Amino acid sequence: MTANFQAALQKSIETTRRNLGALEEFPESFKHGEWKAIEKERAAGHWVDGFWTGLLWLAYAHSGDALLRSGAEHWTNKLAHLKTSAGTHDLGFIFYLSHVIAGRLTGDATWYDNGLEAAFTLIQRFNPRGEYLQAWDDDGIRKWAGRTNIDLMMNLALLYWASDITGDRRPADIATRHARTSRVALVRGDGSTAHVADFNPQSGLLIRREQYQGYSHDSCWSRGQAWALYGFATCYRYTAIPAFLTTAQALADYTIGHLPADLVPFWDYNSPHIPDTYRDSSAAAVTVCGLVELAAVDGENASRWLGLAERMLISLCEHFLIMDAAGPSSILRNGARSVPANLMEHGLIYGDYYFLEALTAFTRPDIYQRAFAPESAHLAPGE
Ligand code: GLY
Repeated sequence: MTANFQAALQKSIETTRRNLGALEEFPESFKHGEWKAIEKERAAGHWVDGFWTGLLWLAYAHSGDALLRSGAEHWTNKLAHLKTSAGTHDLGFIFYLSHVIAGRLTGDATWYDNGLEAAFTLIQRFNPRGEYLQAWDDDGIRKWAGRTNIDLMMNLALLYWASDITGDRRPADIATRHARTSRVALVRGDGSTAHVADFNPQSGLLIRREQYQGYSHDSCWSRGQAWALYGFATCYRYTAIPAFLTTAQALADYTIGHLPADLVPFWDYNSPHIPDTYRDSSAAAVTVCGLVELAAVDGENASRWLGLAERMLISLCEHFLIMDAAGPSSILRNGARSVPANLMEHGLIYGDYYFLEALTAFTRPDIYQRAFAPESAHLAPGE
């Protein structure tokens, strides 16, 4: 088993090295032999950029390769200007996987300055009436002030980290309030998730739940479910609030009940076209990392979560890992960016990133701890 993981790790580092030599823009999706960048018209177009820096930093930590380190520094510095960009809810993804892990892996705390500024920029998106971080901005056509989404749960680690580092409780407090709202507004009673919650931004009342990247408003988009699982487990790790743990457990149980035999999710757990529809290898990779995070905080059930995570990772290695690329390539095949938008059957930079994070957890717990363990556990008292 571990031998598989070692081979996959070497392959991932080689592929990252080749991509570093070839890429001129931050990559998002890989198809027909080339990487495509995401559109950058809106600030939110940058949401994927931290996955490339995260890959470079982890590949460097495994290999010690000076070229990977200077690549990681170069691409991380290219993100610094976004620290004051209040127009995106994804500063957590962007800065946690660039500046924060740069500081943790190199021991050079000057990397943290931009991450801290980004965290204090992100909390400007908090709506105190609805108690949520706003996902998108009005675009001249539609009004978005009332929308939050499940993906946002993954941006909270940056806020908890910022409070840990500074002792200023505001970011952590907002993260916890947002997570409480998301639990009520986006997690259903059966442990599945909706993608988007639509509030009246003035009264703060929930109007409806919606699905933009899943099959229908009542269905469960598999990557959204994975963001939720990982996000709630992280919230519990930082706060010890029991409801966050029980929510993460319920999300994991729903996931287990809806995985296909090879454990790599279809793009929506409730698509009526299963099995004749698309997989999302990125949902599998994020789920593995979410299970590892859950295992770290749920000692009683840790072997159950880790056992599943390991089997999912083995399946990714055996069936979804690209072994034969000679030029630039994604690491995994068969991601699904958005099936409703007709974007699927490609490699995805976030699938690749979480695959390497998962391999790191199983092969090098020392690197994993250094990159991801909070500076101090349990910032806030539990309830
Ligand atoms: N925006 C996050 C995702 O597509 O998964």
